[in-house]
Amino acid sequence: MISMETLLEQANEASVAKAAQLLRQGEIVAIPTETVYGIAASAFDGAAVKKIFAAKGRPQDNPLIVHIDRMKMLEGLVGQVPESAKKLAEAFWPGPLTIIMPRGEKVADEVCAGLDTVAVRMPSHPVARAVIAASGLPLAAPSANLSGSPSPTCARYVWNDMNGRLPLILDGGDCQVGVESTVITVAGEEPVLLRPGFITKEQMEQVLGRPVVLSGAILAKLKEGETARSPGMKYKHYAPKAEVTIVKGDLAAFAAYVEARKTPDTFCLCFTGESGVLPTPCVEYGARESGAEQAHCLFTALRQLDEQGAKQVFARCPADSGVSLAVYNRLLRAAAFRVVEV
Ligand code: TXA
Ligand code: MG
Repeated sequence: MISMETLLEQANEASVAKAAQLLRQGEIVAIPTETVYGIAASAFDGAAVKKIFAAKGRPQDNPLIVHIDRMKMLEGLVGQVPESAKKLAEAFWPGPLTIIMPRGEKVADEVCAGLDTVAVRMPSHPVARAVIAASGLPLAAPSANLSGSPSPTCARYVWNDMNGRLPLILDGGDCQVGVESTVITVAGEEPVLLRPGFITKEQMEQVLGRPVVLSGAILAKLKEGETARSPGMKYKHYAPKAEVTIVKGDLAAFAAYVEARKTPDTFCLCFTGESGVLPTPCVEYGARESGAEQAHCLFTALRQLDEQGAKQVFARCPADSGVSLAVYNRLLRAAAFRVVEV
């Protein structure tokens, strides 16, 4: 167990300068981004990156995303910038898109976890950008949760998981997007979507002018012996303490299904405005038609279910296209792939 004094500071000029100094000294710092909070370290400093894995309890074979604030930072970080990466960067950076490219010689081995590729994104959050600019370093940063719990969308959740494990958390308020960045690889023959997010498959196909392949690991559990293109996809993730089941069907059928199975510790995870017609306490996670709203609310909703003592949760099923595909992907993992149709 790591133990140190953790400071939680409002992000401002002084705390950003403190964060940059810690990072240059080989320390790790939690910072806000537009997707979720991350734990940052210099992508060039293997010893600093190791501290991230220790603080999170993260498996060593799961590589990290490197955050930059200008295209010039790609030098030494990536081996080459494929044509399709240029198009995607132009369309979606700064923003919640991570692009996997051939790895460059300066990036620490620990960041890539033995792969010959590196994941890069240029965040849009002003605090993330200010920290990168002030440190002058590309920052490797996974989500700021303990391995296995939901990604934190506000500084208080980072504190709950990371107090005593790192020296500084910068508070930049609630994260707008609420789920982790879209991850696409352009290192192979065809572009492959490895993790859905706020930037959608449909949007990227438009920019690239060709189909983007959906990785099999997005909607299905990996079979015995199968390897994930994105190592992170193989772990059980985002798991609340309750047993979550996704129930596919219309609202009336959902309500009847819950009514027949509810216990005193049963909750529903439902869309906005549905609580009134459901037979258990509910946590709402956004409008049924709005993938963006669902993405913004999902991880907070999962943590609220834990806080309220839910033991069994029945969840309304999001759509499997647009931004909702990202929501469905995270919820499937929270439910350990338990889905029933009614
Ligand atoms: O929105 C985000 O991406 C947040 C914020 C902090 O930027 N970060 C984040 O990092 O979600 P993390 O470590 O929780 O997720 C990174 C994902 C993992 O699934 C990992 O396996 C995958 O990206 N990944 C990283 N490098 C890769 C590579 N070279 N090849 C394939 N997958 C990679
Ligand atoms: Mg994560």
